Amino acid sequence: MSVKIPRYFINDLLFRTNIIDLINTRIKLKKNGKNYQTNCPFHNDKTPSFTVSYEKQFYYCFGCKKHGNAIDFLINYENLTFIESIEELASIHGITIPFQDNTIYEKNNYLKKQKLYSLIDQISKLYQKNIQLNNNAYKYLINRGINKNMIKFFQIGFSSFTWENFSEKLNIKKELEKELLNYKIISTNKNQKKYDPFQGRIIFPIHDINGKTIGFGGRSIRNIFPKYINSSETNIFYKSKQIYGLYQLKKKFFKPEYILVVEGYIDVIMLIQNKINYVVSSLGTSITKEHIKILFRHTDTIIYCYDGDDAGKTASWRALKITLPYISDKKTIKFIILPENEDPDTIIKKEGAKKFQLRIKNSIKMSEFFFKNILNGVDLSSNNDKFYLSIRALPLINLIPSEIIRIYLRQILGRIIGILDDNQFEKFLYEKEQKNKNIQYKQNKRTLMQKLIGLLIQNPNLSNLVVSKKNLENSKIKGISIFLNILKICKTHPNINTGQLLEFYRGSKIINILKTLSIWDHMIIEEKIENMFLDLLKNIHKKNLEIRQKYLISKERIHGLTIYEKQEIWSINKKLKK
Ligand code: UTP
Ligand code: MN
Repeated sequence: MSVKIPRYFINDLLFRTNIIDLINTRIKLKKNGKNYQTNCPFHNDKTPSFTVSYEKQFYYCFGCKKHGNAIDFLINYENLTFIESIEELASIHGITIPFQDNTIYEKNNYLKKQKLYSLIDQISKLYQKNIQLNNNAYKYLINRGINKNMIKFFQIGFSSFTWENFSEKLNIKKELEKELLNYKIISTNKNQKKYDPFQGRIIFPIHDINGKTIGFGGRSIRNIFPKYINSSETNIFYKSKQIYGLYQLKKKFFKPEYILVVEGYIDVIMLIQNKINYVVSSLGTSITKEHIKILFRHTDTIIYCYDGDDAGKTASWRALKITLPYISDKKTIKFIILPENEDPDTIIKKEGAKKFQLRIKNSIKMSEFFFKNILNGVDLSSNNDKFYLSIRALPLINLIPSEIIRIYLRQILGRIIGILDDNQFEKFLYEKEQKNKNIQYKQNKRTLMQKLIGLLIQNPNLSNLVVSKKNLENSKIKGISIFLNILKICKTHPNINTGQLLEFYRGSKIINILKTLSIWDHMIIEEKIENMFLDLLKNIHKKNLEIRQKYLISKERIHGLTIYEKQEIWSINKKLKK
């Protein structure tokens, strides 16, 4: 990735940021000695393997080996892009990003986003005002049983006006109009007349997790096709990442014990109105990996509660399949299957909240739902079917990262297809797995240069120990130029930390080597690190001499040596003997 934000700024941003605070506001960290720890948010972790170092401004998980600085954390944890995570850090510190002159594109992009936020916010407020003025729209909501509080809480609105006064009310100039067209916030009809595509629709504003309005869903009140439409995607609105109702949920509850995922906007609103508190929906699109990752950040249990029609059942099975890679001993999913032709909105009106709570309480466990579905249409008296079942089920089971759950599901599968001896079935599968694991073991030996670079990245202050670079600069050892380059950064940025240092190499060819070395477990105790580093430097010197010695020896054999070279080899021999 080409750098679009000046290096000094990124470095300064990381300097201002305390990674401990950054992470601690998202997951509770516990102090343990010099470091902070918690269960790793990136894998299923039973012990606190996730370690954050204040000194290094770096996190590292001993379990899954994920690691990085504050920027990496935001990228991985919040699903942000590089630029977005810089934006996030800048906004935490209340500073503006000084985009480089040659990056007008990024700068414009950033300003555009800010403009878009404010524009959509203004439009949303207009829609909200409008619902109070328009009797039909207000009546529609009341008829559907949505009360005043909910209209306010979800900022429900209505778009009834014609484009002319829409434009007037927002005081939209020609130039802005172009942008709105560009973002498809407004459209042009056949007669070149501009109009609001949401006209005649109830508006459900969609908020990001921070409460900013980023788009809308709109339902026609006159059953015009399509029944629902959503805003087009923009720089700030990505449907696959957005969850309707999550902002409202998080405003009230910090860590809900479960989150119910339903299909529609009105389902969310009706359930909340009935005090079924933890409900969200995925904007009418099928649930995505991004959605699941986000949801599991806020809860340990996702309960899918789709409509009671065929489409709903298919959606449940699909949701199960894409959630499998995120299931762990701690994170699980459950299912509520509603009666035919019902959705959460209709059923809660019929049954009331108490019965719905019971549905939640009795929701179907993942394993049960899994086998119920996979056994659908399978004839267990036919060997063919049994075989088919196992080749269908195993790949899915293997998607689950938790070994315990995999074993558990395989045992059930083994019993279903009639291998009564769990051990036998397990043994067969276990051997297959072991083979894959062995590959991971051999990777310990580090070269001299790798050790040196590793120690320096992990302890940038070691750069102070390098007083003369003469020996290094003349060296022909592989990797020396990388070492010198890192050294130079350390020297020009006194007190730089690991997190900042690695940032200089983001996107470069060597970043992966550097990252591996930054988490290399050197097993050297803290007090000995300096000595070790000095020793390694000495070894560089020695190695330089050896290389030179080898060269001179071979030269002697072929061409003979000059008097100076003879003196040199004599002195090298002497030095090497010491
Ligand atoms: P449903 O068709 O199940 O509608 O769509 P609903 O939620 O029960 O809505 P009401 O009760 O008739 O008002 C569920 C969700 O799918 C999306 C919407 O997000 C909707 O809330 N959807 C539906 C669309 O995006 N477009 C459509 O045409 C229909
Ligand atoms: Mn409905």
